[in-house]
Amino acid sequence: MMARQDQIEIALLGLGVIGSGVARTLLEKGPAYDQQLGLHLSLRHILERDLYKAEGVPVDRRLVTDDSHVVLDDKAVDIVIELLGGERPAYDFIKEALCSGRYVVTANKEVMAKHGLELLALAQEHGVDILFEASVGSGTPVIGPLRRDLSANEITSIRAIINGTTNYILTRMSKEGLDFQEALSQAQALGYAEADPTNDLEGIDAVYKLAILASLAFHTHVRPDDVYREGITSLNARDFRYAQELGYAIKLLAVARREEEGVDVRVHPAFVPRGELLASVDGVLNAVQVEGDLLGRVLFQGPGAGPRPTASAIMADVMDAAYSVAAAKAGRTGGRLPWRAGRTLPMKPMAELTTRYYLRMEVADQPGVLAQIARCFGDHGVSIASVIQKERDEVAQTAELVIMTHVAREESVQKTIEEAGKLAVVSRIGNLLRVES
Ligand code: HSE
Repeated sequence: MMARQDQIEIALLGLGVIGSGVARTLLEKGPAYDQQLGLHLSLRHILERDLYKAEGVPVDRRLVTDDSHVVLDDKAVDIVIELLGGERPAYDFIKEALCSGRYVVTANKEVMAKHGLELLALAQEHGVDILFEASVGSGTPVIGPLRRDLSANEITSIRAIINGTTNYILTRMSKEGLDFQEALSQAQALGYAEADPTNDLEGIDAVYKLAILASLAFHTHVRPDDVYREGITSLNARDFRYAQELGYAIKLLAVARREEEGVDVRVHPAFVPRGELLASVDGVLNAVQVEGDLLGRVLFQGPGAGPRPTASAIMADVMDAAYSVAAAKAGRTGGRLPWRAGRTLPMKPMAELTTRYYLRMEVADQPGVLAQIARCFGDHGVSIASVIQKERDEVAQTAELVIMTHVAREESVQKTIEEAGKLAVVSRIGNLLRVES
């Protein structure tokens, strides 16, 4: 059958949770999208290795293949939606699609964090585009604003909560006093955390997302390896009690700042003052706060995961690409606002970070202990702002000390802890957290 002139042919790679969500959305809302676009979105191929997956999804089984050549060699395909996840073969398929002049829509944060600049350049070279709104914050718009709406600004900072799994766990620990393991089990039971949650818990997922955001915002290449990373597994119910007492929430923050010495990019749990908007972003929600020289501060908040929110971003990108495909077919070359890296900024070493710190340690409860510890801080130029001492173990005669510092240098604080840890009166360094305000 001849394809209609106004028909846009789509290939979907991957029929997992997100792929199925996109297929369902196309079936459910396709006619409305067609009306809005004045075009017909047609699902032509579905690439899925596990053919059984197609059984639960109401798609025409004849569209499903496990042969990537059938999909990528078909010259009629206009748009490739890549939802395989992981670096390979997704990266190779995306590259092949762009080089053969297809628009690509992807949710793949790992590929975009590691190869985004190369893929954007390839797309430009071939007169198409790669759209990746779903790669950060799922359906919550952040990529579009950074690529287009905020492009007249010099972006100075991003502070974000971009991992829903860890935010859910931290919220349960904070609100219900749960231990990390209990909160993780709850998250797994509810399907918020995967059976192997390493990428989320260790901050790897957030690092990929931050590398994408920082590269876009600062027009430079921020690689995942440039981002300092700490996960949430060392957090303890006691840290949440002290945070509460001191007026803070604990969040896994992704921070990117443009500073004179270079770009400061890091993902780690942090104390956030209760009065700040980010402190009340709870559960599986994501939020990205961007600061630009013209607009000032803006906050994007919304669902950061799930098939329907993700399909929201993917289908908007597909509609955007479809419009460009139709324009090109009609001989109109409207063009798109290009995004270019344009500059190579140095990365600021973590040792040079200056901020305030929270430190929890177990010490001997006897005369002169505080003086020894305070000397350690003083020797490294770290100024103590407040100390709370809690009785802990009467039999062992140990106490718990919670120290808040004034603004100090990361390198000095690390040296202080190393030295304090060697003191005979310190039985254990509990946790060190940065204060982000
Ligand atoms: N695993 C991610 C999260 C969702 O917990 O936010 C997909 O990016």
